[in-house]
Amino acid sequence: MEKCRNIMPHEIVTFIRDIYKSNDFIPLHAPTFNGNELAYVSETINSTFVSSVGKFVDEFELNVQVYTGSAKAVATVNGTAALHAAMYMVGVKTGDLVITQALTFVATCNALHHMGAEPILLDVSKKSLSLCPVALERFLDEFAILTKDGCFHKDSQRKISAVVPMHTFGHPAELDELAAICEKWDLPLVEDAAESLGSFYKGRHTGTIGDMGALSFNGNKIITTGGGGMVLCSSVELGDKTKHVTTTAKAPHRYEFFHDQPGFNYRMPNLNAALGCAQMESLGEFLIKKRALAVEYQEFFSKSDYQFVREPDYAKSNYWLNAIICPDKASRDNFLQFTNEEGVMTRPIWQLMHRLPMFKHAIRDELKNSEWIEKLLVNLPSSPAHRTLTSE
Ligand SMILES: Cc1ncc(COP(=O)(O)O)c(C=O)c1O
Repeated sequence: MEKCRNIMPHEIVTFIRDIYKSNDFIPLHAPTFNGNELAYVSETINSTFVSSVGKFVDEFELNVQVYTGSAKAVATVNGTAALHAAMYMVGVKTGDLVITQALTFVATCNALHHMGAEPILLDVSKKSLSLCPVALERFLDEFAILTKDGCFHKDSQRKISAVVPMHTFGHPAELDELAAICEKWDLPLVEDAAESLGSFYKGRHTGTIGDMGALSFNGNKIITTGGGGMVLCSSVELGDKTKHVTTTAKAPHRYEFFHDQPGFNYRMPNLNAALGCAQMESLGEFLIKKRALAVEYQEFFSKSDYQFVREPDYAKSNYWLNAIICPDKASRDNFLQFTNEEGVMTRPIWQLMHRLPMFKHAIRDELKNSEWIEKLLVNLPSSPAHRTLTSE
């Protein structure tokens, strides 16, 4: 067996600069606009329909719906709003508890917090970096009770009203196992698929396996609308209701204003949807380039003490953000400092949610894997500008 060696940070910087053929600052993830973006946005401006009505919103929703295979897709102003709407639709209410992973971007917990709910923070699995089915089952077996009114947390008597796994860096969670546990405990499954447009779980698009899913089109995602999100709905009925409630719950009428429930103004502007339509045309190309980049990183780190984070064997990931696990915390800190000083942006993973002041009292279980990943993981530049495809 070949002996492992520790690659020096300067070798990594050289490797990344060579990939991007650039001596300038290299960001973690920059958007690429090389298609019809300008044409569609100009068309929107010329039409004057820049706001909440216009053909690009409908087109973008349909494009994403068809691509993901969801029953209906509803565009929103951002991914956090999409998550909020998804949780609203499955019935999360003030005072409820929602199970999610401690290792996530803060938006997952913000969305449920704004509904008056609180998170239960569980561990992730090392295989997917996403909510661990074993941890979920163990927690429910020990701390929950199922009644005719749903699932309750035994100690606090509060309702547990949803389970929200997040597909970390685009790598799909262990969805069959999670879905089976949710079914057993009568819990809706809402997928935070903000990072995973283009990622498939056993051939099915992430965000379409649970009751609801949420995508983000923030500027750092695989495609962007500037700001934007999408709710993926598991039935047309849920989709129609989601559209209604996210567009001020206005009863359809040519001129009368009647709103039949408190609604959200979460509708994506036509201007952003125009950008989204153009970006969807490039998604296939971005995915090819990002997966090719992941292969290069994997080969580069294969004989080192750094462990490249690969997609789980059941999944096809969009490799939104490439990541490595460093051999120890000292080498991680050294790596982060050196690369950032050299103008190559790298980043540690998010701090676990219970370390943030607003979630420090959250109910949580053992978080061994999350703590290990938090300590050792580094994200690498992942824009889809890949040399073998761009240089030809
Ligand atoms: C895991 C996760 N959830 C939710 C969001 C929220 O999306 P947005 O920034 O579009 O509100 C993001 C990204 O920004 C995210 O990474």
